[in-house]
Amino acid sequence: MEASFSKVRKLLFLAFLTLLLTACGRENLTALDPKGYGAEQSMKLILLTTIVMTFVFLVVITALIIVIIRFRKKKGDPVITPVQVEGSKSLEALWTIIPIILVVIMAVPTVVATFQLADTSDQDEHINIDITGHQYWWHYEYVDEGFTTSQDLYIPVNQKVYINLITKDVLHSFWVPSISGKLDVNPENVNTMFIEAYEEGVYFGKCAELCGPSHSLMDFKVVVVSEEEYEQWVKDMKNFDADALDLDPIAQEGRSLFEEKGCIGCHAIDGRNYSPGNTPMGPDLTQFADRSRFAGYLQPTEENLKNWLRDPEKLKPGNKMTGTYGELSEEEIDKIARFLLELRPSEVTAGSKE
Ligand code: CUA
Repeated sequence: MEASFSKVRKLLFLAFLTLLLTACGRENLTALDPKGYGAEQSMKLILLTTIVMTFVFLVVITALIIVIIRFRKKKGDPVITPVQVEGSKSLEALWTIIPIILVVIMAVPTVVATFQLADTSDQDEHINIDITGHQYWWHYEYVDEGFTTSQDLYIPVNQKVYINLITKDVLHSFWVPSISGKLDVNPENVNTMFIEAYEEGVYFGKCAELCGPSHSLMDFKVVVVSEEEYEQWVKDMKNFDADALDLDPIAQEGRSLFEEKGCIGCHAIDGRNYSPGNTPMGPDLTQFADRSRFAGYLQPTEENLKNWLRDPEKLKPGNKMTGTYGELSEEEIDKIARFLLELRPSEVTAGSKE
């Protein structure tokens, strides 16, 4: 009796956890509240499958309850052997045909949606962004516009945007739950999909393939802006000249340190100067101070940035920056941080859309 009671308690606890954890969704990080084409298609299929499964559940459970109540043996009832239906052709046919129909109901829309999502025939007519996955960040090359950036992916609302995915190292998976399905990112071939967002805003993106110790920190944002804002942002990115920045003396020294200490060897600060298809060692910092995050999850505040420069390993284990530069003094860290926080090419930012 006691053992079964503890089993019941365990079950109740699991049920409670399930309820609790399923409520852990975050706005703009959920496939259940679609804000884009791919996510909408997925949601329709999720609903269809849930309806079919609920129907099956209800039919079975109703039949079971009826049988339990109607055919329950009461005290004094004679012992009888029910009619044996083993090998009944009509029954066998029934429970073969019904599941086949149910599978067809689910399979046809799934296959149709899969083909629609994989159709890239109009790729040349739309914006193309080449995306490269790295441990643990994303590099974006705006192919036709001619500049690069990272971390925040800007796209215009209600427009198909093609993304061409490849990885520089291990397998990753690109996923913006509110907007799109997910797509594997392989080292040997480019995988292409289109995304289309229906509402302006900032959406959370995730790497959905275990890719190392900081896999869960390989976050990014998709910043969906109006068409005018997108054009403005592109113009600002193309015109941004890090050399022409009007810096105060401390930031100016930070700029010199950025070069002397070799940071510039891995990090671009001027996304226009890049060789197409050639992705850098470290994230592009062109719009560092405009970003919603850096290192995947940290807000670009002076405090966070300094902590990062002091010990990136502590904040993002396994990152490729740790150990690549010598010891920096507090003063040097201060200056470099001041410089990086001057890199703000545009008024159109994630902050303006949140
Ligand atoms: Cu990249 Cu997980």
